[in-house]
Amino acid sequence: MWDERYSNADLVWSAGPNAFVEQMCADLPPGRAVDLAAGEGRNALWLAERGWQAHAVDFSAVGLDRARAIATERLGDDADRLTTEVADLSIWEPPAAGFDLVVVAYLQVPAHLRTPMLAAAAHAVAPGGRLLVIAHHPANIERGVGGPPDPAVNYTPEDVLADIDGSGLIVDSAAETTRPVATPDGERHAIDTVVWAHRPTR
Ligand SMILES: C[S@@+](CC[C@H](N)C(=O)[O-])C[C@H]1O[C@@H](n2cnc3c(N)ncnc32)[C@H](O)[C@@H]1O
Repeated sequence: MWDERYSNADLVWSAGPNAFVEQMCADLPPGRAVDLAAGEGRNALWLAERGWQAHAVDFSAVGLDRARAIATERLGDDADRLTTEVADLSIWEPPAAGFDLVVVAYLQVPAHLRTPMLAAAAHAVAPGGRLLVIAHHPANIERGVGGPPDPAVNYTPEDVLADIDGSGLIVDSAAETTRPVATPDGERHAIDTVVWAHRPTR
């Protein structure tokens, strides 16, 4: 299904990064980042443009092919700052060295899949590194805009906290947050879950 969506001529998501990725990560010193469920790679590409070595993981080969094509266009000789991996996150194992930044944006799957995936995402954070999880909040269905209409795949900050409990990460913020979205009927607000955490250096 995702391969089919990403096969269209137009980008499915925006060319630029998600607003929270931009807001939370703009001042971080570049290092090694992984973007899990990266899709067409908008967040990984933005990080690569800012000097990060960015690894994009998704089970859609078509989405990741597009991400690499965009990297060639936008990064030129530095296109290898973006690497990609076709993998199912339900069986993905993070490399032992970990990453300085782990981004999971809008991975909307049921809880029995989400819990081990977010636990693996937390495990992938190296000492001193950070985790950013952004998702459609359940309240988005009634009061927000966009996102899946299925309450079983939307989740709260508390869900994320339960999923990463025991990972050793310190939670800096976990909140229901709004994001302006331009629609044909004018500006509306999507309701997102945003969780920001870090792993202490020792
Ligand atoms: C809503 S899109 C978000 C894409 C990207 N994070 C962004 O914000 O532009 C969700 C992505 O999750 C990916 N995905 C869903 N389940 C997955 C799984 N089990 N393993 C890997 N990727 C998965 C889909 O292929 C899709 O690209």
